[in-house]
Amino acid sequence: MAKIYIKTYGCQMNERDSEQVARMLVERGHLITPHENEADVVLLNTCSVRDLAEQKALGKMGMLGALSRQRPVVYGFLGCMAQSRGESLFKEIPHLDLVVGTQKFHRVAEYVENALARKAGPRMDDVRFSIVDVEEEPDSQGSIRDHLLSERQVTAFVSIMQGCNMRCTFCIVPFTRGHERSRPIDQIVDEVKRLVDRGIREVTLLGQIVNLYGRHEFPKVDGRSPFVQLLEAVHAVDGLDRIRFTSPHPIGFRKDLVEAFHSLPKLVEHVHFPLQSGSDRILRAMHRTYTAEKYLKLVDEIRAITPEMAMTTDIIVGFPGETDEDFQSTKALVDRVGFDNAFVFKYSKRKDTPAAGMLDQVPDRIKEERNQELLALVNDWARRRNAGFIGREVEVLCEGPSKTNPARLMGRTRGNKIVVFEGASRHLCQLLNIRITHASGYTLYGEPVPVDAGTALGRPDNVSDIASCQVGSLGDVGKTGPYRREPTEIGNK
Ligand code: 5AD
Repeated sequence: MAKIYIKTYGCQMNERDSEQVARMLVERGHLITPHENEADVVLLNTCSVRDLAEQKALGKMGMLGALSRQRPVVYGFLGCMAQSRGESLFKEIPHLDLVVGTQKFHRVAEYVENALARKAGPRMDDVRFSIVDVEEEPDSQGSIRDHLLSERQVTAFVSIMQGCNMRCTFCIVPFTRGHERSRPIDQIVDEVKRLVDRGIREVTLLGQIVNLYGRHEFPKVDGRSPFVQLLEAVHAVDGLDRIRFTSPHPIGFRKDLVEAFHSLPKLVEHVHFPLQSGSDRILRAMHRTYTAEKYLKLVDEIRAITPEMAMTTDIIVGFPGETDEDFQSTKALVDRVGFDNAFVFKYSKRKDTPAAGMLDQVPDRIKEERNQELLALVNDWARRRNAGFIGREVEVLCEGPSKTNPARLMGRTRGNKIVVFEGASRHLCQLLNIRITHASGYTLYGEPVPVDAGTALGRPDNVSDIASCQVGSLGDVGKTGPYRREPTEIGNK
């Protein structure tokens, strides 16, 4: 039995992949530790979307090399950077043992055990014995299907597809994740049913371009896309309260999906809707295949059917050739939509992508200026949107103790806003009504509205019980990455 430390960089797909790896390791008798210092095995599940993410993982792996001075330690890079850099990683990190790509997560446990056995033998750290597996694997999209839930977990990610066929000129994902492949609807529904049986009440369906789910495998039925058919099938699972999905592309976000928000009450009122730029010239150079006007038209269509829809987005500043005028168009569009939140990324050159070779790269100083300017606007809108909740009652699914103050509870609204409140153990894992009393930039604060005053008064609050509820006992597994962080960090790329 080995103690295994897993750290995840990047998106929810990566978190989900790490969870699958952790589950397989636990099944084979190993222990997942949140403490790197006691690890026999260090696995970094990496992100390649920007250079910064790669540098962080490389730096961390370099630093953790010191652990092997005390005992034999197995080191592995998994996921996107492993896929894109492959064998060359051994040159950068001499103590590395494993490089396992995005279609081979199901092999990690076996590779770890091989490496552990070898380390126990005489020829430690011999590069000839390192393992690289970045091959394609048919049906690998179906291998991310098991969960390792903590005791009172109520939300879970479900990976419904892999890969991306869009050719956004800035993006490395098609190279790291391969082409689009989707899992069958019944397999996904079975997974959701199993999750609900284990106490999960909210699922987030994950895909690189989630709304294009199944377009190569399954036909439209009565004008409904495979993705909408999947939403309907998941919606029919008894005991499930909420469905989210991320991330869609404006292309393929058609009427059937817009209407699903109306016809499927479990589908919550939040859409993460990557914009990337508000300038048509830049959108064309990015190969995004929509215009600012088309994006806005979609936003209006969505809001016409679901007026309370929370909208968040991704925006890149400093894409090659972006002029001040282009940037002003982005700001104008952000102001027109009034996003609830946005992730702002400074453009980062990625290997083998067309934009990396474009001649008119934007200087770092200008990228930084535009980043700050846009963040100020985004933060301003986030505050305005949040302030609108003060005095209102919202439905919150309580996820557990707040990270910043474990004596308080936290949950999310249907619109994905974090709500922190003084609660009691009876509120854990429950759908509650919370009256919002105040708001900061990215967090709402409030108090539970008693459903029945008798019950509320009759059962004493037990704060110590709350603090002992260990949500996230897996340490880093499933708990890192830019999309599920504590609110204070949001927007700080
Ligand atoms: N540089 C900066 N940001 C990028 N993203 C993807 N590729 C790059 C890049 N090369 C951003 C996009 C995407 C999000 C996940 O990451 O905004 O939606």
